[in-house]
Parts: sequence; C-alpha cells; structure tokens
Amino acid sequence: MNKIRVLSVFGTRPEAIKMCPLVKVLEGDDRIESIVCVTAQHREMLDSVLNIFDVKPQYDLNIMAHGQTIVDISNKVLSGVDSVIKECNPDIVLVHGDTSTTLNAALAAFYNKVSIGHVEAGLRSGDIYSPFPEEANRKLTGAITNIHFAPTEGNENNLLKEGINKCVYITGNTVIDALLSVIDENYKFKDETLNNIDFENSKVILLTAHRRENWGAPMADIFYAVRKLVEENKDAKVIFPMHKNPSIRELARESFKGVEDSVVLIEPVEYVDFANLMAKSYLIMTDSGGIQEEAPALGKPVMVLRSETERPEAVEAGTVKLVGVDRESIYNVGNELLNNKEVYKTMSNAVNPYGDGKSSQRIMDLIVAYIDSER
Ligand code: UD1
Ligand code: UDP
Repeated sequence: MNKIRVLSVFGTRPEAIKMCPLVKVLEGDDRIESIVCVTAQHREMLDSVLNIFDVKPQYDLNIMAHGQTIVDISNKVLSGVDSVIKECNPDIVLVHGDTSTTLNAALAAFYNKVSIGHVEAGLRSGDIYSPFPEEANRKLTGAITNIHFAPTEGNENNLLKEGINKCVYITGNTVIDALLSVIDENYKFKDETLNNIDFENSKVILLTAHRRENWGAPMADIFYAVRKLVEENKDAKVIFPMHKNPSIRELARESFKGVEDSVVLIEPVEYVDFANLMAKSYLIMTDSGGIQEEAPALGKPVMVLRSETERPEAVEAGTVKLVGVDRESIYNVGNELLNNKEVYKTMSNAVNPYGDGKSSQRIMDLIVAYIDSER
C-alpha cells in the first residue's frame, strides 16, 4: 500500500504552535509521508516555533511583507499553495484554525479536488465581523472541509447546527499537546530579562494584544486602563511581549511613556519561555485566542480584552472573564483581581476543556481511517 501523503499548511505563530505537535506525530508514523508547507504569513514569529519543535518545511512560500493586507496574503497563499499541491500531489491537505493562510490553503486544495482536513474546526463567535476576518475564515473553511477535527463538544455542535454532520470528530485541541510538552516547574528562562523579574514579590500581569478589530481606539483604551492599573497598584508589574505588528508597537510605546519600569515592553517571547511565563504570572490580560485555551489549563485567571469569544468553555468554568475593551471595565476587573483575594481565588482554578495532550495522535488515526475508506 502506498503511504498516505499528508500536506500540512500553516503560516502564523499560533498555527505553528498547534500544528507542530501533529507534524511530529505524522513524521513518526510509517503509514504516512508528511510534507510541510509554510506560507510564512509570519516570519520571525513562525521561525521561532519551527526551531523549537525542530520542524523543517519542504516548502516555504516566504510571503510576509510589512503592511500586508488580507487580500495580499490571500493572493499569495492561494497561488503558492496551488503550485505546491500540483507538485507534490497530496492525498489530503491539513489546514488549521482561522487565518488567511487557513482559508486560502483550503481553497487551493478544493480547486484541485484534494481532500481537506480542518484542525481546530467548529469554533464560532456568532458574529461574522468579530473576530475579523477569522469568524468568516472558519465558516468558509468548514464549508469546503472533508474531515473536521473539533476540539470540544461545543465546537462539534456548532458544525451540526450549520448542517455539517459528515466526518466531524471531537479530538481535543493540539494546543494542549504543545503546552504539556514544554511546562516545567523549575524552568529557567532563556531570556535573561524574564529571569530578573521578581515573581514572588510583585503581581505580574502578562499582557498580549493584537486583534485587528482592536486596532486604534479600542487598543488605546486597553493601554489607558493598564497604565492606570499600574499607577494605582505599586505591587503590579506588566510584561507586554509586543506582537510584531508595527501599529501596535508604536501605540504601546507612546501609551506607556514614563511608566517603563512598571510596564515592561519586550519582543515576542519564544514559545517555551512564554508558556512558562504564563505559568509564573499572577494574571493574564489578552485578546489572543490561543492564550484563552492555555492559561486556564495552568490555573491562571484570564481577562479577555474582546467583546465576544469563540472559546466559551473556560468562561463557563470561571477561569476566563470576558471583559471587553471599555477602559472602565478593564480597570475595574483588573483592580479587583489585584486586590480582592477571594475573587482572585475563585478565578484561579485549573480547568482544561481543551484536551488531554493526545489530540495529535487521535487526529492522525482519523486521517488514516478516512483516507483508507476513500481509497
Ligand atoms: C494574523 C492572523 C490572525 C492571528 C494572528 C496571530 C489573518 C488575517 N490574521 O494576524 O488571525 O490571530 O496572525 O498572531 O490571518 N510581522 C512581522 N514578523 C512576524 C509576524 C508579523 O514583522 O513574524 C508584522 C508584519 O509587519 C506583518 C504584520 O506584523 O505585515 C501583520 O501580520 P499579519 O499576519 O498580516 O496579521 P496579524 O495581526 O499577525
Ligand atoms: N505566544 C508566544 N509568545 C508570545 C505571545 C504568545 O509564544 O510572545 C504564544 C501563546 O502561547 C499562544 C500563541 O502564541 O500559543 C498565541 O498566538 P497569538 O496570540 O499571536 O494568536 P491567536 O491565538 O490570537 O490567533
């Protein structure tokens, strides 16, 4: 029997973090020929993850350009992945999540009549414009996908409600596979700046922010509230690994002028350092999708700086609070978590609705069964 040719396509940091554990499992199985194509929608932030997991792509479309628009990315991914598919003739193309890489790689597969496997399928916020363009990317990808790997029962139900009921499987999220492989209680950071932070005597707030719908005024409100929090809570220290997007970095530098000792602006942190930084922090404030899945597993309270979430599981469990982007709400919730021990304690419970760390193996077995049934 010929080996199953699996082409995995991804391009941004979160896709890489969640696809690399699966790629490693695929590489280790002799029923499979694993081929990796990175679009490099992100460059440095992607390469850092590839290095950590020691994944060496056979194809690198190297598309990233500063100031790239969604259309720029889409054009390059669609034509680039089309050429790769024609050259390597895969049995199945795997895409992940909800980025422009995801949708356009899936479209390229669809136009070539190659089966599509969607990893992290079925997440929905219910608002097509939020997150933008991710909600649409997920829905459109789901509409042309042949085999759906839904992290949770809620995600499966979202697909069923849309009439997608063939080949939908609950697998957990590979984010937990990645997380469990890197957390270490006695961890020493590679980045010396992080080793010099006093996690014992200060309340470290880990902040990340990058979402398109938060660019501009909402981001300015977030930064205003964070500044007020550290000005009024002398024991609080904010660590802000800034996303590489220049518009966020400029606003951050401007907004935190004069409080640089309390709000430490740093480069994106490499994933193993970042995961262990989450584990050592007091509180996490973020608009990130992936961090909403990781931090609850570590028992860290998360304030979500968005008005909706497609990840309701940890909100229901109490570890994640949907705070929105209103400056007063952010300040009030943050202040309470810094000063009210009881409130902090009720949010600090470890919950892990996203998997047991074995999602990659499950997904691989489902791919093999699916392709065998198609042959
Ligand atoms: C993208 C995804 C978003 C995902 C996020 C994860 C789309 C439309 N957006 O948003 O869904 O949540 O990634 O972080 O698919 N840059 C660098 N180096 C890097 C990465 C980015 O310099 O390694 C800069 C570049 O100037 C680039 C800009 O950041 O043009 C924006 O990158 P882009 O992928 O377009 O958007 P993100 O906001 O990162
Ligand atoms: N992350 C990282 N370094 C950082 C910030 C985040 O390694 O400085 C990781 C984080 O652990 C999570 C992922 O990047 O796994 C989230 O990426 P991002 O917030 O960019 O994208 P999203 O999940 O919102 O799509």
